[in-house]
Amino acid sequence: MDKMQPGRNDPCPCGSGLKYKKCCIAKGIPVSKTFTRDTIKTYLAKYDIRLKDGKEIEAIRRAGRIAVDTLKMVEPYIKPGVKTDDINTLVHDFTVKQGAIPAPLNYRGYPKSVCISINEVICHGIPGERILKDGDIANIDVTPILEGYYADASKTFFVGTPSPEAKKIVHVARESLKAGLSVSKPGNRIGDIGWAIQKYAEGRGCSVVREFVGHGIGTDFHEAPQVPHYGVQGRGIMLVPGMVFTIEPMINLGKKELHVLPDRWTAVTNDGSLSAQFEQTILITENGYESLTPYDLDVPLFK
Ligand code: MF3
Ligand code: CO
Ligand code: CO
Repeated sequence: MDKMQPGRNDPCPCGSGLKYKKCCIAKGIPVSKTFTRDTIKTYLAKYDIRLKDGKEIEAIRRAGRIAVDTLKMVEPYIKPGVKTDDINTLVHDFTVKQGAIPAPLNYRGYPKSVCISINEVICHGIPGERILKDGDIANIDVTPILEGYYADASKTFFVGTPSPEAKKIVHVARESLKAGLSVSKPGNRIGDIGWAIQKYAEGRGCSVVREFVGHGIGTDFHEAPQVPHYGVQGRGIMLVPGMVFTIEPMINLGKKELHVLPDRWTAVTNDGSLSAQFEQTILITENGYESLTPYDLDVPLFK
């Protein structure tokens, strides 16, 4: 909780826009009481961020349970010889069976119910006739909508036996998400998350994609704020309890530059290097964070 105490000259965590010393310190309001109805109003007016109440959080948690169960359901199908369109069907049918809607389908013209991004594909790979082959890595990104609330999660899987490069990039991507989570607590800022991820990933000789970012989520797929996976410590909007957003670093084994294929969705690395991603939806709590798509980030990735 140490980092929760803002400096006297920092913006007041109540969101007034005044310096902390001119606002809640002057009013004698303790920091634990500054995240109130005022904060809700100010975060909306100033940043367009919709802080979530208990009922909304429960709804996102239920959607998140379906996201996690979907990733678990598809795992045994991520093997050589499986057609990506068949994984799309599995995800679609499973989601609907849970009483949810797959958010990707028809989202801004996206034609399928899940994103499947293989090898040098960074994100938004469209399922189709492509067949998974031994040694591939495949990110599966699912977003169920349950009772109007979205939850967004993804994992990168090995197809068959991974190469040393595949092991490295998938490990670094998962640790990058964990680096971002480790600084996700009230009083820290959006920039701290990107900084932690960038420092870790670049420290391992990998690169961080800039064009796609984490995002607020709730009654819309992509809400404010944007959550870059690169950045400067201490910069950006202060994290406050009730914020719900994704962290979803896309990490490349080579350079960070990308281009989008003529299908207008599939983003690939310019240098053809492998790219991996892990995504969870999190809630900022009074003293840290809670994952609303809580799959285990510590299980061994390979033997
Ligand atoms: N799930 C992606 C994200 O993490 C967004 C996919 S948009 C789609 O934000 F249209 F491609 F599904
Ligand atoms: Co997302
Ligand atoms: Co996603």
